[in-house]
Amino acid sequence: MFDAKELRRVMGLFATGVTVITTRDAGGRVYGLTANAVTSLSLVPPLLLICIDKQAESHPHFLDSKCFIVNILAEDQEALSTRFAKSGGDKFTGVAHHLGRLDTPVLDGTLGHVECRIVETHEGGDHVIHVGAVEHAELRGGAPLIFFQGKYHQLRSR
Ligand SMILES: Cc1cc2nc3c(=O)[nH]c(=O)nc-3n(C[C@H](O)[C@H](O)[C@H](O)COP(=O)(O)O)c2cc1C
Repeated sequence: MFDAKELRRVMGLFATGVTVITTRDAGGRVYGLTANAVTSLSLVPPLLLICIDKQAESHPHFLDSKCFIVNILAEDQEALSTRFAKSGGDKFTGVAHHLGRLDTPVLDGTLGHVECRIVETHEGGDHVIHVGAVEHAELRGGAPLIFFQGKYHQLRSR
Protein backbone atom coordinates (compact mmCIF):
# COMPACT_ATOMS: atom_id res chain seq x y z
CA MET A 1 0.00 0.00 0.00
CA PHE A 2 1.04 3.63 -0.48
CA ASP A 3 -0.53 7.05 -0.28
CA ALA A 4 -0.09 10.07 -2.56
CA LYS A 5 2.30 11.79 -0.13
CA GLU A 6 4.52 8.73 0.04
CA LEU A 7 4.61 8.47 -3.76
CA ARG A 8 5.66 12.15 -3.94
CA ARG A 9 8.39 11.49 -1.37
CA VAL A 10 9.66 8.43 -3.23
CA MET A 11 9.67 10.16 -6.62
CA GLY A 12 11.33 13.18 -4.99
CA LEU A 13 14.38 10.94 -4.60
CA PHE A 14 14.68 10.85 -8.38
CA ALA A 15 17.00 13.85 -8.86
CA THR A 16 16.42 15.80 -12.07
CA GLY A 17 17.60 18.88 -13.88
CA VAL A 18 15.19 21.80 -14.18
CA THR A 19 13.86 23.29 -17.40
CA VAL A 20 11.59 26.12 -18.45
CA ILE A 21 9.44 24.93 -21.34
CA THR A 22 8.17 27.77 -23.52
CA THR A 23 5.49 27.99 -26.17
CA ARG A 24 3.30 30.67 -27.81
CA ASP A 25 -0.19 31.17 -29.17
CA ALA A 26 -1.31 31.98 -32.73
CA GLY A 27 -1.18 35.72 -31.93
CA GLY A 28 2.48 35.47 -30.89
CA ARG A 29 1.88 35.79 -27.12
CA VAL A 30 4.49 33.79 -25.22
CA TYR A 31 4.08 31.32 -22.33
CA GLY A 32 6.38 29.24 -20.18
CA LEU A 33 6.41 26.91 -17.20
CA THR A 34 9.01 25.22 -15.02
CA ALA A 35 9.16 21.49 -15.74
CA ASN A 36 11.22 18.45 -14.87
CA ALA A 37 9.03 15.81 -16.57
CA VAL A 38 11.24 15.97 -19.66
CA THR A 39 12.85 12.96 -21.34
CA SER A 40 15.06 12.33 -24.30
CA LEU A 41 12.83 9.77 -26.05
CA SER A 42 14.58 8.78 -29.31
CA LEU A 43 17.77 9.63 -31.19
CA VAL A 44 16.73 8.28 -34.61
CA PRO A 45 14.46 10.10 -35.25
CA PRO A 46 15.33 12.73 -32.61
CA LEU A 47 12.33 13.02 -30.25
CA LEU A 48 11.76 14.57 -26.80
CA LEU A 49 8.86 13.93 -24.46
CA ILE A 50 7.31 16.47 -22.06
CA CYS A 51 4.41 16.11 -19.60
CA ILE A 52 2.10 19.10 -19.07
CA ASP A 53 -0.55 19.46 -16.37
CA LYS A 54 -4.02 19.91 -17.91
CA GLN A 55 -4.67 22.60 -15.25
CA ALA A 56 -1.64 24.68 -16.31
CA GLU A 57 -2.55 28.01 -17.92
CA SER A 58 -0.06 27.32 -20.68
CA HIS A 59 -1.58 23.88 -21.50
CA PRO A 60 -4.00 24.99 -24.30
CA HIS A 61 -1.27 27.00 -26.03
CA PHE A 62 0.88 23.89 -26.63
CA LEU A 63 -2.14 22.41 -28.43
CA ASP A 64 -2.53 25.63 -30.51
CA SER A 65 1.05 26.26 -31.51
CA LYS A 66 2.12 22.60 -31.74
CA CYS A 67 5.62 23.60 -30.71
CA PHE A 68 7.80 24.05 -27.62
CA ILE A 69 11.31 24.85 -26.52
CA VAL A 70 13.03 23.10 -23.59
CA ASN A 71 15.42 25.58 -21.89
CA ILE A 72 17.80 23.75 -19.50
CA LEU A 73 18.48 25.92 -16.44
CA ALA A 74 21.93 26.69 -15.01
CA GLU A 75 22.69 26.49 -11.28
CA ASP A 76 22.33 30.29 -10.88
CA GLN A 77 18.81 30.33 -12.40
CA GLU A 78 16.77 29.19 -9.37
CA ALA A 79 14.87 32.52 -9.39
CA LEU A 80 13.79 31.86 -12.99
CA SER A 81 12.56 28.40 -11.99
CA THR A 82 10.52 29.90 -9.12
CA ARG A 83 9.09 32.59 -11.39
CA PHE A 84 7.97 30.14 -14.10
CA ALA A 85 6.51 27.73 -11.51
CA LYS A 86 3.71 30.24 -10.72
CA SER A 87 0.65 30.78 -12.91
CA GLY A 88 -0.47 34.21 -14.01
CA GLY A 89 1.09 37.53 -14.92
CA ASP A 90 3.59 38.26 -17.61
CA LYS A 91 6.38 35.88 -16.64
CA PHE A 92 8.73 37.20 -19.35
CA THR A 93 8.93 40.86 -18.20
CA GLY A 94 12.56 41.53 -17.29
CA VAL A 95 13.68 38.02 -18.37
CA ALA A 96 16.39 38.15 -21.06
CA HIS A 97 15.22 36.10 -24.03
CA HIS A 98 14.85 36.10 -27.80
CA LEU A 99 12.61 34.21 -30.20
CA GLY A 100 13.95 30.98 -31.68
CA ARG A 101 13.30 29.39 -35.07
CA LEU A 102 9.71 28.49 -34.07
CA ASP A 103 8.96 32.05 -32.82
CA THR A 104 9.02 30.65 -29.31
CA PRO A 105 11.15 32.07 -26.44
CA VAL A 106 14.75 30.99 -25.91
CA LEU A 107 15.90 32.10 -22.44
CA ASP A 108 19.38 33.61 -22.11
CA GLY A 109 22.00 32.16 -19.75
CA THR A 110 20.82 28.55 -19.86
CA LEU A 111 22.99 25.45 -20.46
CA GLY A 112 21.29 24.89 -23.80
CA HIS A 113 17.92 24.54 -25.46
CA VAL A 114 16.03 22.21 -27.79
CA GLU A 115 13.32 23.40 -30.20
CA CYS A 116 10.57 20.91 -31.07
CA ARG A 117 7.42 20.55 -33.15
CA ILE A 118 4.72 18.47 -31.44
CA VAL A 119 4.07 15.32 -33.48
CA GLU A 120 1.99 13.32 -30.98
CA THR A 121 -0.06 14.08 -27.85
CA HIS A 122 -1.17 11.33 -25.45
CA GLU A 123 -3.42 11.28 -22.40
CA GLY A 124 -1.56 10.74 -19.13
CA GLY A 125 -4.05 11.03 -16.26
CA ASP A 126 -4.16 14.67 -15.14
CA HIS A 127 -1.30 15.49 -17.56
CA VAL A 128 -0.81 15.22 -21.30
CA ILE A 129 2.32 13.79 -22.87
CA HIS A 130 3.63 15.72 -25.86
CA VAL A 131 6.15 14.07 -28.16
CA GLY A 132 8.27 16.68 -29.94
CA ALA A 133 10.33 16.19 -33.11
CA VAL A 134 13.59 18.07 -32.60
CA GLU A 135 14.09 20.87 -35.15
CA HIS A 136 17.10 22.51 -33.52
CA ALA A 137 19.38 22.02 -30.49
CA GLU A 138 21.99 24.38 -29.10
CA LEU A 139 24.60 23.68 -26.43
CA ARG A 140 26.23 26.32 -24.23
CA GLY A 141 27.27 24.21 -21.21
CA GLY A 142 27.92 25.02 -17.55
CA ALA A 143 26.69 23.64 -14.23
CA PRO A 144 23.03 22.52 -13.92
CA LEU A 145 20.30 23.43 -11.44
CA ILE A 146 19.19 20.20 -9.69
CA PHE A 147 15.80 19.38 -8.12
CA PHE A 148 15.88 16.71 -5.38
CA GLN A 149 13.50 16.01 -2.47
CA GLY A 150 11.45 19.11 -3.30
CA LYS A 151 14.43 21.49 -3.11
CA TYR A 152 16.97 23.06 -5.43
CA HIS A 153 20.59 21.87 -5.27
CA GLN A 154 23.88 22.33 -7.06
CA LEU A 155 25.80 19.42 -8.52
CA ARG A 156 28.86 18.53 -6.46
CA SER A 157 31.39 16.52 -8.47
CA ARG A 158 33.26 13.75 -6.68
C1 LIG B 1 10.88 21.69 -10.16
C2 LIG B 1 9.50 21.77 -10.77
C3 LIG B 1 9.17 20.90 -11.78
C4 LIG B 1 7.90 20.96 -12.38
N1 LIG B 1 7.61 20.09 -13.40
C5 LIG B 1 6.43 20.20 -14.07
C6 LIG B 1 6.17 19.40 -15.21
O1 LIG B 1 7.00 18.59 -15.64
N2 LIG B 1 4.97 19.55 -15.84
C7 LIG B 1 4.01 20.44 -15.39
O2 LIG B 1 2.94 20.53 -16.01
N3 LIG B 1 4.24 21.22 -14.31
C8 LIG B 1 5.44 21.14 -13.65
N4 LIG B 1 5.70 21.96 -12.58
C9 LIG B 1 4.64 22.88 -12.12
C10 LIG B 1 4.49 24.11 -13.03
O3 LIG B 1 5.72 24.81 -13.19
C11 LIG B 1 3.43 25.06 -12.40
O4 LIG B 1 2.21 24.39 -12.29
C12 LIG B 1 3.24 26.36 -13.20
O5 LIG B 1 2.52 27.26 -12.40
C13 LIG B 1 2.47 26.19 -14.48
O6 LIG B 1 2.44 27.48 -15.10
P1 LIG B 1 1.19 27.96 -15.98
O7 LIG B 1 -0.06 27.69 -15.16
O8 LIG B 1 1.44 29.42 -16.20
O9 LIG B 1 1.22 27.18 -17.25
C14 LIG B 1 6.95 21.91 -11.95
C15 LIG B 1 7.30 22.79 -10.92
C16 LIG B 1 8.57 22.74 -10.33
C17 LIG B 1 8.92 23.71 -9.24
